[in-house]
Amino acid sequence: MSRRRGAAVAAALALGLGAAGCTTLDNAIAKVPWFTTMRDQPAIRPFEPPHLMPPPGSVPVTGREDSLDLLTGLGEVVNPVARTDWSVGRGRRIFETYCLVCHGAAGRGDGPVTLKFIPPPDLTLDVSKQRSDGYIYALLRQGRGIMPRYGDKIRGADRWHVVNYVRRLQGAGDGRQ
Ligand code: HEC
Repeated sequence: MSRRRGAAVAAALALGLGAAGCTTLDNAIAKVPWFTTMRDQPAIRPFEPPHLMPPPGSVPVTGREDSLDLLTGLGEVVNPVARTDWSVGRGRRIFETYCLVCHGAAGRGDGPVTLKFIPPPDLTLDVSKQRSDGYIYALLRQGRGIMPRYGDKIRGADRWHVVNYVRRLQGAGDGRQ
C-alpha cells in the first residue's frame, strides 16, 4: 500500500467511526452496568406522561375556570381575604378602573355611561347588601346579562379585594359576610 493510499484508508476509517461509531460506542458503553451514563436518570422520556401527581390541595393556576352557579352554593364560598384597609384600598382602585363607569363611584348605579346605557342596579340597596360575598365574587368573575365578565381582567385575590370594597360601599364594617 502506498503511503498516500494508506493515509486515505485511515481517513476513511476515522470518518466512518466518527459518523457511525459515536452512537454505536455510546450504545455499547450504556450496556456495561458499571459505567455511568446519562441514560440512566430519573428524567421523563419523550412522549412519556409524567407520573407525578400534584400535591394534595393544589389548585390549577392556568386553564379554564369552572362556571359558578349564581343561584346555588355560593353562600358557602368563603371570602378568604380579610377586609383590611389595605384590601379595601386595593379593591377601590380596581373598582374605579372597571366598575365605576357603570356602577358609579359610590355604587349607586349612576356611573357616567348610564346616561346612554341601561342603568345597573344600586349596589347599596338592601337587596344587594343581603347577597353573599360569593355571589358578588361570581358576578364579577362571570358577569350576567348586560354586565360583562371581569374574571379575565381581574385575577386571583384582586377579585376578593373588589368584593371587600363593594362591602365597604354598602356600609359594612370589617367583619366578613
Ligand atoms: C357595563 C356596565 C357594568 C360594568 C362595567 C359593571 N357592571 Fe355590575 N352590573 C351591571 C348591570 C347591568 C347589572 C345587572 C345585571 C343583572 O341583574 O342581570 C350589574 C349587576 C352587578 C351586581 C349584582 C347586584 C345584585 O344585587 O344582584 C354586582 C354585585 C355588580 N354588578 C358588581 C360589579 C363589579 C364589582 C364590577 C366591576 C368589576 C361591575 N359590576 C362592572 C353593569 C355593569
